Amino acid sequence: MKKLIWLVCFAFLISCNTKEKQVEKKEKKVYDMYEPSEMAILMNKMYAHNLKIKKEIIAGEIPTEFPLDFLEIHTAELSDFKSRSERFQAFSSLFVTAEKEVFNSQSNLPIKDRFNNAVGLCISCHQTECTGPIPRIKKLLIK
Ligand code: HEC
Repeated sequence: MKKLIWLVCFAFLISCNTKEKQVEKKEKKVYDMYEPSEMAILMNKMYAHNLKIKKEIIAGEIPTEFPLDFLEIHTAELSDFKSRSERFQAFSSLFVTAEKEVFNSQSNLPIKDRFNNAVGLCISCHQTECTGPIPRIKKLLIK
């Protein structure tokens, strides 16, 4: 199971800079040498967590606890081909603010809108930083 998760992570990291077809062929072989960046690990955690929240919201539950490890977006190391741009930092802050709103029980906005706003900021940042995972992130949106 763990192996599978890394394999999936790997596929997404590579999709930021190479063509997907190549990955499918090479995936198995390169796997041993691949070490995901802290940021890639965090991103996959955030994806999984938001998927869980989406299911809860659809089931009529209201999520209450902001996952503090999301704050690691401000410090986690990116993979070595990227540096933390000012733009990245600005989007990190916007994203964290939006994600916190999902857990704000005082908010007047419907939970669905707050959740979709947060996912929208995942997508906004990805539009400039790493477009590969966007189709997958869009699946998090609640219709
Ligand atoms: C501030 C910009 C930013 C925000 C906000 C952001 N991402 Fe990312 N994301 C990145 C960057 C940059 C990478 C590439 C990571 C690296 O280079 O180490 C990435 C990578 C990923 C990956 C691929 C990870 C891998 O295995 O390589 C996924 C999946 C992902 N993000 C999902 C999300 C989701 C879901 C959200 C919102 C909950 C989100 N991202 C919010 C910038 C962002």
